[in-house]
Amino acid sequence: MAPKRYTITSALPYANGPIHIGQLAGAYIPADIYVRYLRLQGADVAFICGSDEHGAAISLKAIREKTTPQAIIDTYHTLNKQSFAAFGIDFDIFHRTSEPLHHETAQSFFTTLLEKGELITETSAQYFDEEYQQFLADRYIMGTCPKCGNENAYGDQCEKCGSSLSPKELIQPRSTLSDKTPVLKETTHWYLPMQHYEQWLREWILEGHTEWKKNVYGQVKSWLEQGLQPRAMTRDLDWGVKVPLPDAEGKVLYVWLDAPIGYISATKAWAEEKGIDWKPYWQDGETRLIHFIGKDNIVFHCIIFPIILKAHGDYILPDNVPANEFMNMEGDKISTSRNWAVWLHEYLEEFPGKEDVLRYVLTANMPETKDSEFTWKDYQDRNNNELVGVLGNFVNRVLVLQQKYFDGAIQPIDWSRWKDGNQVKGLELVWGDEGFKKGISQSLEQFRYREALNQVMNVARAGNKFLTDQEPWKKIKDDPTAVGEVLHICVQVVANLAIIMEPFLPFTAKKLRPMLAQPETLTDWSKAGHLDILPVGTVLGTPSLLFEKVDDETIQAQMDKLEATKQTDNPFPAVKETIQYDDFAKLDLRVGTIVAADKVKKADRLLHFKVDMGFEVRDIVSGVAEHFSPEELLDKQVVVVANLAPRKLKGIESKGMILMAEDADGKLSFLQPDKAWPNGATIS
Ligand code: 2FM
Ligand code: ZN
Repeated sequence: MAPKRYTITSALPYANGPIHIGQLAGAYIPADIYVRYLRLQGADVAFICGSDEHGAAISLKAIREKTTPQAIIDTYHTLNKQSFAAFGIDFDIFHRTSEPLHHETAQSFFTTLLEKGELITETSAQYFDEEYQQFLADRYIMGTCPKCGNENAYGDQCEKCGSSLSPKELIQPRSTLSDKTPVLKETTHWYLPMQHYEQWLREWILEGHTEWKKNVYGQVKSWLEQGLQPRAMTRDLDWGVKVPLPDAEGKVLYVWLDAPIGYISATKAWAEEKGIDWKPYWQDGETRLIHFIGKDNIVFHCIIFPIILKAHGDYILPDNVPANEFMNMEGDKISTSRNWAVWLHEYLEEFPGKEDVLRYVLTANMPETKDSEFTWKDYQDRNNNELVGVLGNFVNRVLVLQQKYFDGAIQPIDWSRWKDGNQVKGLELVWGDEGFKKGISQSLEQFRYREALNQVMNVARAGNKFLTDQEPWKKIKDDPTAVGEVLHICVQVVANLAIIMEPFLPFTAKKLRPMLAQPETLTDWSKAGHLDILPVGTVLGTPSLLFEKVDDETIQAQMDKLEATKQTDNPFPAVKETIQYDDFAKLDLRVGTIVAADKVKKADRLLHFKVDMGFEVRDIVSGVAEHFSPEELLDKQVVVVANLAPRKLKGIESKGMILMAEDADGKLSFLQPDKAWPNGATIS
C-alpha cells in the first residue's frame, strides 16, 4: 500500500563554500527526481533541506579570512539556496541551522536524551590552545602523520595517506590558531553509548533492510562488525548550538545532534508557514522517511542518527538511505581546496538556460554503485548526440510536421489499423500501465536513476525510429489520412515524454507543455503509458527547439579554465609543448665533476667552471654566482648538456650547460647522480 506521506531529506550542506557538481549528483538531483516523481502521482511530500551553519570549519574559515562566522554563513546560505533553486531542486524549504527554532529543537533533543539516561559523561584530556584560550577541534590541530610522515596532517585525518587519525596520534602537534604547541587539558563531554544499540541495528538494518543499496548496506555491516563505541555528542567550541545546561559554558552540540535535527526543525518551519502540523511527517508510522546523502554520511544517517531517533522514542526511522558514491572530474577527485570542480553558481552564469543539460549529464553518470566521472567531452557528447540528436530532434520533427501538414490540429486515428495488443505496429514500445511506464517506475523506486533515464530516452529513440520508418513526408500527397494517423501516434509519444521527462528535465518539460496545449494532463503520472493523452482536434502550440548543440570552443574554454586552476595551484610554469622521443634523443647529457670554479671579472652573475667530463675537461660559464660561492662547488658532480653549441661569454668560450632545478623563489640546486658516478657517463 502506498504510504500516506513522505519526508524526503537531502544532506544539509555546510554554508562555508559554494556547491559543486559532485554534491549535486550525490544528494540533490536524485532526491529531486524522486520527489518530482512522487508529486506527479499526487503524493503528499515534504522535501527538506537547508544550510548546516555550524562546525569547526566555519569558525576556522572566519579566523583565517578575518571575518565572522555569521558573515560566512550569510554569504553561502544565500548563494547555495539560489543555486539549488536555479537548478530546479524543488525543496519545500531550505532552512538554516542558525535559526532559533533549530537551536531550540536540537537542545530539546539533547535534554530528552539526557533525561532518559541515554547520555553518559566522560572526562578526558584534549588539546587546548593557551594563547587563544580554546579547546581545539580535530581540524584545528595539525602535525606530522605517524603513518606517512606528512607534516601537514589534520587531527582527524591525513589527507596525504588517507589515514583517519585522532589528534593525540599526531607527532609535534601544533594549533592552527596560534601555530603554537597545544597543551593537554581535561574536559568533560556527553557521549552516546552506541554499543547499547548494536544488536538492535543488526536486526533493523542487516536483517530488516536487506533491500538497501549494496554500498550502504555493506558500509553499515562493516561498522557493526567492528563494534560500536560511545560517541561524543558535544564539543568545546563557541560557534554552534549551546549545550543547554548551566555548567556547560563553551560547549556546543556536535554535528550528530545538530545537522540531522536540522531536518526536523526545517520541517517545523515549513509546516508552521503552511499552517499544518509538522508531527505526522516525523512521528507517524505511515510516513516514509528517506535520506539522500553522499557516501561520507552513511554512518551518520544509518547508525548515529537512527540511534538518536530511537533513543528519543517519539520518532519514525528512515525507510531508506539511498546514498551515492562520489563523482570525480576529469581524471581527478573533486577538491574544494584545489578548486578542482564545476561550481554551480559559475555554471549558471556561463551556461544560462542549460540547467537541464547538466541535470541530464549528472544523472546519466550518477555515482549510484561506484565512483563515477564527469568530463566536459562527455557533457558535449551527451548534449549533442542524446539531447539534441534524439530527444530534441524527435519532438521537433513531430511538432513541426504537425504544424506544416495540419496547422497543429491532431487528426483522427483508426486504432484498429495500428494496435496489436499493447503495442503499436512499427513502434518498439509496450503501452499500458505494465509497459515502459512500469519499468521507469520500478527503476525510480529502487533509486536506479541512470537506468530510469535511459528508459525515458528509449521512448524517444523508439519514437524517432517510428517516424523515420513511416516517412510521412513521402506519403503526405497521396495519403494525408495515414500521415494524420502517424503524427497522431507520434504526438502521443511526445506527450508521454513530456510527463516522464519531468522528474529529470523539469525545465524542458515546462517548455514543452504549452507546445502541446494540455498543461494539466502533462503533470499527471497516471496518464503516462497511454496513447490518449491529447484528444483529437487539439491544436498544438508553436514549436521551438528544446536543446541546442554545444560547440568545441565552449568545451575548450572550460578545459582551459581547469588547466589554469592547476597552474594557480602550482607556482611553476605550464609544461611546454609535447616533443617526440627523437627530439629528446638529440640531447647528449653527461656526468661531470667540477674541478675548478672562479668568479668572472666584471660579471657579477657569472662563474667560470672547469668540468672534468671523463674524455676531456670543459670550460663552462654559468650565471649562478649570486647563488653559490666558488669554493662550495669544488668536486661537486653535475649533469652537463654536452652537445650544446659553444657560446662566448665575457671572452670565455662556454662549451655546454650545467643542469639545475629552480624552486618557486628562484633558488637553485644542482642535479647530480645519487652516488659518485664515473665522469663522462651518459644519461638517458
Ligand atoms: O557532512 C556534511 O556535509 C554535514 N553538513 C552534514 C550533512 S548531513 C546532515 F545534514 F545530517
Ligand atoms: Zn599520512
